Amino acid sequence: MSFDALARAMPAIARLRAYDTGSDKQGARERTRPPAELGSNENPYGPSPRAVEAMTAVLANAHRYPDPDGSALKRTLERRFGVAPAGITLGNGSNELLVLLAQCFAGPGRSVVFSQYAFAVYAIATAAVGAEAIVVPALPRDHATMPLGHDLEALAAAVREDTSLVFLANPNNPTGTWFDDAALAAFLARVPREVIVVLDEAYLEFATAPGLGPATALLARHPNLVVARTFSKAYGLAALRLGYAVSDPSVAGVLARLRQPFNGNALALAAATAALEDTDYLDDTVARVVADRDGLADALRARGFGVLPSQGNFLMLDAGDRAAAIAQTWYDAGIIVRPMGAYGLPQMLRISIGTRAENERLLEALA
Ligand SMILES: Cc1ncc(COP(=O)(O)O)c(C=O)c1O
Repeated sequence: MSFDALARAMPAIARLRAYDTGSDKQGARERTRPPAELGSNENPYGPSPRAVEAMTAVLANAHRYPDPDGSALKRTLERRFGVAPAGITLGNGSNELLVLLAQCFAGPGRSVVFSQYAFAVYAIATAAVGAEAIVVPALPRDHATMPLGHDLEALAAAVREDTSLVFLANPNNPTGTWFDDAALAAFLARVPREVIVVLDEAYLEFATAPGLGPATALLARHPNLVVARTFSKAYGLAALRLGYAVSDPSVAGVLARLRQPFNGNALALAAATAALEDTDYLDDTVARVVADRDGLADALRARGFGVLPSQGNFLMLDAGDRAAAIAQTWYDAGIIVRPMGAYGLPQMLRISIGTRAENERLLEALA
């Protein structure tokens, strides 16, 4: 007799769909050697060689627990970005921090505001803690500059008495859209200080648009702001699962109560610290990805496709009713992209920027 665990799950969890990690990567890895993995917004050039060296040095100490505070990494973050270690919280991926923020600040009787077409984990984290999700419609498809982007005015207006948390992403995944520092400052000025505003900067390193800088500059004026970042994207360390949040120390103090001990593993701490120091490698790989993002967007538009403006390391392609067929063509050619059906955008495909050879392979398969 089958056991119906779903009937016993909390109703908000039963209504959720599990996070979609995209196509069967392992299958593709086994079928095509090597597949072009353009479905998860990773850095196609991999980690800095200095990060690999740092990990290798740690391997023989795998029997020891890691530094619980990640103090060397925090000192390096302070040196690089001027952020105080007392306000830094490490996470097993920034994903864990998003969930931890919801666990600490939201729950039954409270609401969480985020945009339509935002990162799927915001909805999962909200449901996980039994809070109500207020999903604010994105800017319209035919918006002049930022189709499907965050509507900051509407997001601020959606905040209610019972709202305790807002999730924003800049640039946003999956749309690639963004807003500038002035728009963020205006948003923060409108939102009550009691509401924690999480600004997810997973892709900020790839942003080149004028007026779009790190939101940590606003922390001193807005102690309710939390900036989430990751080593999974520009730093090429997705396999290690390490992210960090920068906040007022009082917010970090709350997160510390629930954060799992040793959630930043020793390999990740060593690799991230070394990767932060290797600014040449970061700058070089990011510059290549940014140049190819803009080049690939032009090439796809020249072939008649709609492409959303993007400041991330990925593009949203509007393939209309050919989306599923094109995704299949690419899959058969060993190229993995991310269909956007789970986000309610079945005509869209999200393409991560690969190496130049991978991007060319993508265009050739389209022909
Ligand atoms: C906007 C955004 N935030 C956070 C994450 C989580 O990244 P990680 O848990 O690898 O740090 C992702 C991953 O795709 C993302 O797209």
